[in-house]
Amino acid sequence: MSKHPAGGIYAAMSAATTTALPVPGNNTPGLAAIPKIRIRSLRKRFGQKIVLDGVDLDVMPGTSMVVIGGSGSGKSVLLKCILGLIDPDDGQIEVDGQNILKLSRREREQTGARIGMLFQNGALFDSLPVWENIAFGLLARHATTRADARDRANGILQQVGLAASVGDLSPSELSGGMQKRVALARAIAAQPDIMFFDEPTTGLDPIMGAVIDGLVVDCVKRLGSTAIAITHDMASARRIGDQAAMLLNGRVIWCGPASALMDSGNPAVDQFTHGRREGPIQMELRR
Ligand SMILES: Nc1ncnc2c1ncn2[C@@H]1O[C@H](COP(=O)(O)OP(=O)(O)OP(=O)(O)O)[C@@H](O)[C@H]1O
Ligand SMILES: [Mg+2]
Repeated sequence: MSKHPAGGIYAAMSAATTTALPVPGNNTPGLAAIPKIRIRSLRKRFGQKIVLDGVDLDVMPGTSMVVIGGSGSGKSVLLKCILGLIDPDDGQIEVDGQNILKLSRREREQTGARIGMLFQNGALFDSLPVWENIAFGLLARHATTRADARDRANGILQQVGLAASVGDLSPSELSGGMQKRVALARAIAAQPDIMFFDEPTTGLDPIMGAVIDGLVVDCVKRLGSTAIAITHDMASARRIGDQAAMLLNGRVIWCGPASALMDSGNPAVDQFTHGRREGPIQMELRR
């Protein structure tokens, strides 16, 4: 459950929501319903290609939002815009009520550093052993001694189901699934209050996928963190998400409880979540 008093109300009200954004509750007197992350009219294009075409999204404190959408629909770009790795062309991104796009580059980097990120491709540093990858944020900020960082890395390795001895290996010596778990370990190491997971279970076997989902949920709930997770796995989406949003044609076309993903009543969401060839979404095979 959300630690924020508005979280439950947001969840209940958005149960009836299909395309209606912004989120209800924000104008209700007496409710301090400030989203942890609030995105409005976010736009990003690369050359002629419009990727984000007016994205609106609210993520309430202490809740997790699952973002679904076809390959190339802009899910990773959206996270990278919030992280400050990609500059959007227009729109607002508020974190704790502050529009981070108005901050200086240095201040924006500081906001980005507060966010734990599991990158879709792992993005581990092959030049560093696994344990230093995990403790990278802590070491970079001189938040701890190397010995303590190593101890913490060992503890987190155990949490993601890996032996402490894996800490001495190079990421290139690991299987894809192990790399995914190391990437998760790195994302959660500093216990950030915001966490992004870009396809945390892709490439894992179903059991490890469920274990990783459990870890994600545990971290988010135990730390009271706010999370955005991208996934193509509907079982995973329902396990991880309080809320879910679907990106299509550069916009959020549906937002509601993750538990409603399979019977949202929205034809495009239905087609996507049930994997139907026929429906309003036309697959573009030639790009
Ligand atoms: N740095 C970049 N420069 C140019 N185009 C980019 C860049 N990053 C992303 N794109 C383009 O933006 C579009 C959306 O990419 P994005 O990675 O967000 O997709 P996605 O929804 O995460 O897809 P997938 O599910 O396959 O990971 C794609 O067409 C991609 O080629
Ligand atoms: Mg992606």
